[in-house]
Amino acid sequence: MITFENVSFGYIEEGSTLKDLSFTIEKGSVTALIGANGAGKTTLAKLIRGLIRPTSGRILFEGEDIRQMKTSTMAAHMGYLFQNPDRQICKNTVGEELDFTLEKTVQDEAEREKLKAEVLAALQLDAEDEPFLLSRGERQKIALASALVHRPELLILDEPTTGLDYKECTQIMEYVKRLNQEGVTVVMVCHDMEIVLDYSDQVIVMRDGRIVADGRTRKVLRDAQALAASALLPPQIIGLATMLQADGFTGFEEVCTVDEMTACVEAYRREAQA
Ligand SMILES: Nc1ncnc2c1ncn2[C@@H]1O[C@H](COP(=O)(O)OP(=O)(O)OP(=O)(O)O)[C@@H](O)[C@H]1O
Ligand SMILES: [Mg+2]
Repeated sequence: MITFENVSFGYIEEGSTLKDLSFTIEKGSVTALIGANGAGKTTLAKLIRGLIRPTSGRILFEGEDIRQMKTSTMAAHMGYLFQNPDRQICKNTVGEELDFTLEKTVQDEAEREKLKAEVLAALQLDAEDEPFLLSRGERQKIALASALVHRPELLILDEPTTGLDYKECTQIMEYVKRLNQEGVTVVMVCHDMEIVLDYSDQVIVMRDGRIVADGRTRKVLRDAQALAASALLPPQIIGLATMLQADGFTGFEEVCTVDEMTACVEAYRREAQA
C-alpha cells in the first residue's frame, strides 16, 4: 500500500532529519514505528500523510506518487491522529469535530450521519460533549474518532495510547484492531512494546533518522541488539525469555507471549518430573 523509495527529508536546508529511507507497508497490515525520542517517527508519519514532502526520493500510495495526489483525495483515503490530540481538536463539541472531517470527505449526508453514529457508539462518545472539558483520554478518543470517522483505507496514528490508562488504552486499540480486521491498513507510532507485540504485524525501528530494523513483529522484538542500540527495551516476556536463554535454558528462542512461556516452563517441569 505504501512504498518509500530512498526518501530523505530535512526541516532545514543543511542536514537531513530522515536519511535515505526505503520500505514497504502491505495493505491490511498493522505496522508499528518505534525508536527513541527524536528518532524521526513523527516526521515519517507526516511524510506518509503528505503533510510534508520529501527532499529527495519518492513515496507511493497504492502505486501512485503522492506528489501527484490532490490534498482532498489524500484526506479521503487517509486518517491521521496527531501526537498531541489538542493540536487536532478545533471545534466546540464532539459532534462538530466529527462533522468537520465528514464534510470534507463524505458527500452523502445520510452516510455522514450513519458513520458519525457508528463511531460515537463504538468509542462511547457523546456528540454534545465539549472536548476541552473532558479528560486527556476522552480527548484522545475524540481525536481518533475524527481521524477515522470517514473510514479511510489507511490510518496513521502517532502515539495513540500515550498518557492513557489501561482501560482507555485497551478500548482504543481494540477498536483499531476491529477496523484493521475490516480491512483498514494501520501505521502507528508507539512507545509501548507490549502494545506493539499485541497489535502489530510489522515493526520498523528508527534511529537518528534511519531505519535500523524492519520485519515481522516477533522477529524484530526478539532482536535484542537492534532494540538496545535504539534505547528500547523488549516486551517483558521476551526480556524474560532472553534472560533464561542467557542462563543456558533452551527452547525459549521463539517465546513471545505468556502462553508460549507457560508451555515452555511446563515442558521443563514435565522433563524434571520424568
Ligand atoms: N518542525 C520542526 N522543525 C525543525 N526540526 C524539527 C521539527 N520537528 C521535529 N524536528 C526535529 O526532527 C527530529 C525528529 O523529530 P520527530 O518529531 O520526527 O521525532 P520522534 O521520533 O517523533 O520523537 P518523539 O518520540 O519525541 O515524538 C528531531 O531532532 C526534532 O528535533
Ligand atoms: Mg513523535
